[in-house]
Amino acid sequence: MIKQTFILIFSLVVLSIGIESSALAANSSGVKLYQSECSDCHIPYPSNFLGTQSWDALLKGLDNHFGDDAELAPEDLAKIKTFLDNNNYDQSRIKKYYHGRFDSPGTPLRISKTVLFKAIHHEISDRWVTKNPKVKSFSHCDACHRGASRGSFDEDDVRVPRY
Ligand code: HEC
Ligand code: HEC
Repeated sequence: MIKQTFILIFSLVVLSIGIESSALAANSSGVKLYQSECSDCHIPYPSNFLGTQSWDALLKGLDNHFGDDAELAPEDLAKIKTFLDNNNYDQSRIKKYYHGRFDSPGTPLRISKTVLFKAIHHEISDRWVTKNPKVKSFSHCDACHRGASRGSFDEDDVRVPRY
């Protein structure tokens, strides 16, 4: 059983990296706009944790985005939407490979609240995050993933800061 769980998490992680690089390698104006317009206040989050419905809801609410105004020009918004429509969890290899096992119920607006995110980070104690002034919340990917702003979540480049 333990062995099975290990294999599951291991291949899950390998697959997630695969999607990551292919999504970010896509040389469309949508991905470039996503990377420039959605990185002012946080890292450009990997698109493959949330499904179409979640990204739609997020893009429709940019005028009040977690308390901030993140509104975009309509033509930029349309291109970012095309990118997110084509590079999200619903088309991901993880969803296909695991037959929806990591689908999240409802329409999560946070990556950190998805079943997939929790499965990958299940070994990380809450104490190391919310009680750690150097991290504060799971939304701050770059507190632990030092290559996050470049789209790299490689296991070799991750460290939970000590406090
Ligand atoms: C004006 C600043 C600002 C801009 C611009 C911005 N965001 Fe955010 N975003 C925030 C804040 C603030 C949060 C909440 C972060 C927190 O709780 O630590 C957030 C959170 C998020 C989250 C949830 C992260 C999680 O898992 O907890 C997603 C997804 C997200 N933003 C996507 C986007 C996208 C897509 C764009 C571009 C269209 C964008 N953001 C542009 C300020 C911004
Ligand atoms: C408190 C530190 C911390 C934060 C914050 C954090 N992660 Fe992680 N993450 C880790 C650790 C540690 C691992 C390795 C887990 C393992 O292998 O068991 C990991 C693994 C991953 C992986 C799998 C990569 C691989 O090859 O192992 C991805 C993808 C990932 N995180 C994405 C994110 C995203 C996206 C965010 C922000 C929304 C985030 N993480 C926030 C610590 C963190």
